[in-house]
This record gives sequence, C-alpha cells and structure tokens, in this order.
Amino acid sequence: MNHATIEKNATLLLILSFLVVTIGGLVQITPLFYLENTIEDVEGMRPYSPLELAGRNVYIREGCYNCHSQMIRPFRDEVERYGHFSLAAESMYDHPFQWGSKRTGPDLARVGGRYSDEWHRQHLIDPRSVVPESVMPGYAFLLNKEIDGKGIGKHLAALNLVVNNGRGAMYSEEQIANAEADFVAQATGNDADGMLERYKKAQARDYDGQGKITEMDALIAYMQMLGTLVDTSTFKAAASR
Ligand code: HEC
Repeated sequence: MNHATIEKNATLLLILSFLVVTIGGLVQITPLFYLENTIEDVEGMRPYSPLELAGRNVYIREGCYNCHSQMIRPFRDEVERYGHFSLAAESMYDHPFQWGSKRTGPDLARVGGRYSDEWHRQHLIDPRSVVPESVMPGYAFLLNKEIDGKGIGKHLAALNLVVNNGRGAMYSEEQIANAEADFVAQATGNDADGMLERYKKAQARDYDGQGKITEMDALIAYMQMLGTLVDTSTFKAAASR
C-alpha cells in the first residue's frame, strides 16, 4: 500500500496505529502473565528491621530521594564508582521504592559499610565539615528527636497488608510481636540476639553514640545496611548461571 494513502486518510491511520500498538502491547505484556514472578529470588534479601524501617521513614520524610538515587545502573562508570549494579530483588521490600530520578549527591544503594557511624553522624550534622564543597543540607535536629519504636509493629503489619509480591507475608507473626523490642535492641546493642536471629546480617549498636534512641540512630542504621544484604561477589545472574 502506498504510504501517502495512509497519511491522507485519518480513519485508516487510526485503525492501523491501533493495530500496531495492540500487537506491540501484547508482545510486551503477555509474557508477564506466564511468569510466576518478575523478580528473581536472590539469597540474603530480607525485609527491613523495625529500626531500619524507621530510618527509611526519616529518609522519605526528609526528601533525601530528591538528591540521591538508590539504583546503580549496569554501566561501567556506575559499577566502578558504586559497586555491583542493583538487582530487582534488592528493592523487593521497598514500598515505595527509592530508586529516585536525580543525583545531586551520589547513589546510596550500596553506601552501607562504606563510612563509619561517626562519619555519618558528623556528615548529617554538618555536611561541609567533612566534605567542604558539599551542597547537602544539615540534619542536626535528628539528634534531638527521640523515638521509642512504639507502634512500629503496626507499621510492619500494615506492610503485610499492602504488599502482595506473591511470596506471602513480608513479616512473620513473631517479627510483628517483637517489633518494639527489636527496635530498642538494635539501637542500643542490648539483648540483641533475638533481633539478630530474626533479621539476618542486621547490626546492633548505639549508632549516634548518645545513649538515647533518636531519629539519627534510625537513619544511620538504615544507611549502614543499604546494599549489604546480598553478597554480590557470589551472585550470578540467571543468564550467566
Ligand atoms: C540538596 C541535595 C541533598 C539532599 C536533600 C540530601 N543530600 Fe546527601 N548528599 C548530597 C551531595 C551533593 C552529596 C555529596 C557531597 C557530600 O558528601 O556531602 C551528598 C552525600 C551524601 C552521602 C555520602 C555518600 C557517599 O557515597 O559519599 C550520604 C550518606 C548522604 N548524602 C545521605 C543523605 C541523607 C540520609 C539525606 C536525607 C536526610 C540526604 N543525604 C539529603 C546532596 C543532598
């Protein structure tokens, strides 16, 4: 058919465009219905501990995602700077996800363990005292915002309600029942055995060194666990297995 005929006949153009879009859409969407899961299982992933979750809430409330991404793309420059590219499974417990779309500051997907707690504390109090050219705002007030984890169990239970990723409940009954105690244990390092058993690879200590639990503790706990759950040195993508 002569292309000019299609261009001059609006109805024909519409019908043919509709056909093309339908076929294209089907090709993209149909396979998803036959996949059991779109996220590949990866060893080591677990839901956030209550304290990490509280820190993540501070991160969202303060809008850290406006300047920081949590998504390392599979390009050489990113992988050399930030580490192994992000895996889909690493965001599977993020609701909402924190991939972000702007990097005024560096990607944080694997910032866990890169700096000491003391560095984070100082950096959050006054970014320019450790990185002179930084444009990041200070968050010193977090040191004074005490939190006790009351009600965090309800947060865990609520996540169970909203999340249906085909793997059953995100948090177990036991994790919900112990949420408050786990919160305190992780922020103080006291009686943390149960918490460490319930949340693999979690770390428990007084993150901001103040002897009381504050939003600073929660935020640093969250920073220090980012990207530490999956051992990317042993991870093999499905295609290369
Ligand atoms: C206005 C943009 C902006 C906001 C908002 C912001 N940051 Fe930053 N952040 C930066 C910039 C720029 C840097 C790089 C310079 C530096 O290290 O201070 C940075 C660096 C960092 C680093 C060090 C990363 C690395 O790999 O060196 C961490 C951790 C961090 N920010 C955490 C946070 C947290 C947590 C929040 C929210 C409480 C936050 N940032 C909010 C701009 C921002």
